Amino acid sequence: MAKVKRIGVLTGGGDCPGLNAVIRAVTKTAINEYGVEVVGFRDGFKGLVNNDYMPLNLASVSGIAHRGGTILGTTNRDNPFNFHSIVGGQDYFSDESARAIANIQQLGLGGLVVIGGDGSLNIAHRFAELGVPVVGVPKTIDNDLSATDVTFGFHTAVNTASEALDKLHTTAESHHRVMILEVMGRYAGWIALCAGISGGADVILIPEIPYKAEAIVEKITQRRLLTKKFSIIVVAEGAAPQDGEMVVQKYVPTSHDPIRLGGIGNQLSQEIEAITDIETRVTVLGHLQRGGSPIPYDRILATRYGVAAAENLIEGNSGVMVSLQGTKITTVSLQESISEIRKVPLDSDMIRTGRAIGISFGD
Ligand code: F6P
Repeated sequence: MAKVKRIGVLTGGGDCPGLNAVIRAVTKTAINEYGVEVVGFRDGFKGLVNNDYMPLNLASVSGIAHRGGTILGTTNRDNPFNFHSIVGGQDYFSDESARAIANIQQLGLGGLVVIGGDGSLNIAHRFAELGVPVVGVPKTIDNDLSATDVTFGFHTAVNTASEALDKLHTTAESHHRVMILEVMGRYAGWIALCAGISGGADVILIPEIPYKAEAIVEKITQRRLLTKKFSIIVVAEGAAPQDGEMVVQKYVPTSHDPIRLGGIGNQLSQEIEAITDIETRVTVLGHLQRGGSPIPYDRILATRYGVAAAENLIEGNSGVMVSLQGTKITTVSLQESISEIRKVPLDSDMIRTGRAIGISFGD
């Protein structure tokens, strides 16, 4: 096997706290441990197709571990295998993977580190099948990748949501209101579940447990009679009533995963106010959950993932994703990394914990 002299790195999909810490760790490990050069592609796979890259060195990645976002830029729209452009004023989709591979070869890259969620890892897997050495790094605030215990960025999002709940508590209590906090997470309820337990929610609604508005009203009425006049509800954007559907906010046709969820908080507020006369207010936390500095846990996890990704790629173990299993960083095949999304299991210890302390899941 030829010695690797240079590798590429890109960040794909939605941004997530900890991306810069991974970029920094990949770059420092490649240079310090192996004397290997690093280039970073701008705006994810779009940069790979357009050969838009920047050299990364010890100076350019210095002082970025604590910064949110990604110094490389990202997009959740550009798939080289179904690449979007506008031709003659019309949307046009074409397979530009050969162009991307030609760029990799022309730059003399020994492989790519792809930092992304399931969409980007799917693309990474397709490149690996075409012979490109690739190592994936599991990124997403949603924590919905089944082949790792934790994705980086998740705990920062939970922290943000939990802090929001602390703030909603004091105003809910003062006004004797029901406060609904809608959080992200796509089709998995991890952010809602963890933030809800941490932030003292009375009701947690997740996609895995369809809810009945009557069960929620019963919980808040009981609280009004027996303990507190206010209640806090955390609802995941993918939650849905037993007799209804998830609320889709918009459709993004150029995206690998075109459905954008959002709006269940307002729908729920109307459902509650239709049954009771209790004042209900909604806060949609939205992209605040993706922004800002990663908490120390995510800086450390992202750094461990970045080091392992560079080591595996340069030492020839490609076609894999780095993964946290228990306390150890290991690797799983890219095929396994995209095989299924990880939802909250109904027998989860976290759900049992919530129920034991009196949290309603709306069922
Ligand atoms: O996957 C991360 C995530 O923030 C989801 O929780 C959310 O559904 C989606 O991305 C939002 O995407 P966009 O940034 O395109 O609105």
